[in-house]
Amino acid sequence: MRLFHLDSSLRTDGSVSRDLAGCFQDAWLKGHPGADVTYRDLATDQVPHLAHATQMAALTPKDLRTADQNAAIALSEELARELLDADVYLFSSPIYNWGVPSQLKAWFDHVALDRSLFGEAPALAGRPAVLVMAKGGAYGPGTPREGWDYAEPWLRRMLGEVMRLDLEVIAAELTLAGVNPALNHLQDVADASLAAARAAVVARAEGLGGRVAA
Ligand SMILES: Cc1cc2nc3c(=O)[nH]c(=O)nc-3n(C[C@H](O)[C@H](O)[C@H](O)COP(=O)(O)O)c2cc1C
Repeated sequence: MRLFHLDSSLRTDGSVSRDLAGCFQDAWLKGHPGADVTYRDLATDQVPHLAHATQMAALTPKDLRTADQNAAIALSEELARELLDADVYLFSSPIYNWGVPSQLKAWFDHVALDRSLFGEAPALAGRPAVLVMAKGGAYGPGTPREGWDYAEPWLRRMLGEVMRLDLEVIAAELTLAGVNPALNHLQDVADASLAAARAAVVARAEGLGGRVAA
């Protein structure tokens, strides 16, 4: 049993998305003592933007690739292999400028070169996954910025619909309360959102424990 865990917040201290991911991992490991974890930290080990040479190597049949092409695609293949080799998936992401962190988009551009992860029968289809998110603002129905969050819908599309992971999304909102004075009056709502998110990730991990053991 192997958990794939990816963090993408630029900050390693005080990150809410990393905190939620850590809660999930701790709870999941309690149900799977000794399980393996593949960890990717896109802040401390950044993935470069996709290069044309890498894309061309992906389009070249393996047995016809030059040494340069093999080198150009080595990282992309390693990233895809990490996904293929796991059983359970944990992704964490903030919202930056109403989208996903660019380092996370770059990671997707690399793994998307492996077409086995997409198409009619994606290799990861049906495997359990959780996406935890931290959002400085709030984007629910009736909020002033409803519809501005392009990060969560895009990640749902990629992970849930394209890769067809069995995805649950858990988000803490209003993490900028206490940082942005305009949001300070919403501190109680922010605290409740974080507490609910923490409880939800633990429940998801415990639920998966039962399912995997069954
Ligand atoms: C570069 C940058 C851009 C951000 N853009 C947004 C944004 O568009 N909308 C939003 O709600 N919060 C935004 N935030 C706030 C973060 O989403 C929030 O601080 C979140 O908690 C960050 O995740 P973390 O706690 O895991 O680091 C931004 C933060 C940074 C650093």
